[in-house]
Amino acid sequence: MAKLHFLITAGGTREYIDPVRFITNASSGKMGFALANAALKTGHKVTLISTIKNPEFKSVNVESAEQMFKAVKKYFTKCDCLIMAAAVSDYTPAKKSKIKIKKSTSNLTIKLKPTTDILKWAGKNKKNQIVVGFALEDRNLRKNAEKKLQSKNLDMIIANEPSAIGSEKSTVQIKRKNSDWRILPKADKSFLAKRIINLLCQDLL
Ligand code: CTP
Repeated sequence: MAKLHFLITAGGTREYIDPVRFITNASSGKMGFALANAALKTGHKVTLISTIKNPEFKSVNVESAEQMFKAVKKYFTKCDCLIMAAAVSDYTPAKKSKIKIKKSTSNLTIKLKPTTDILKWAGKNKKNQIVVGFALEDRNLRKNAEKKLQSKNLDMIIANEPSAIGSEKSTVQIKRKNSDWRILPKADKSFLAKRIINLLCQDLL
């Protein structure tokens, strides 16, 4: 079997407001780690870009969406498949305060600016790479996820619901470009990850 190179991102990004405070989300990185483990166990090469340190894996450690984007750009041309399992913040503070913000009695407004959509960049710049995105949807799951598949020029979208965040188990629905939806019923993320890596290998090998 040919050895493939998977580029996998994991964890939620941290967007700093000042030196000690940041905006983030509840992502545990579990799905990204499970995917990395499944790919490694099947004999493939993995570059893991993560916001969360995990002693089981060698990883490129990043914090912000901008740092994750830089790291993805560095490895993207050399990979066969990018899986964006990270929960990348869509917004970041327009200005990061160099000093700790002092409290006052008035309201505080923090202006946010959009981050670069890494997945969209990858969909636009791919040559032979397979590009896989995740969609976390609390309503109209298939419709919204399919929109992402198309607008970001992806090869596969993996949709799940907010209950998946931080949990050991998840139910995912998967759509590959030009094929029907398939449901992977509720199971451990490690089991789902194996199935996802197998599906991707069918496309790549
Ligand atoms: N993603 C990314 N770069 C960003 C934001 C998200 O690469 N700046 C990736 C995530 O890793 C995930 C997918 O895009 O694979 C999620 O798509 P996105 O459009 O960000 O979903 P939501 O943030 O849920 O967007 P919306 O609020 O519009 O549903």
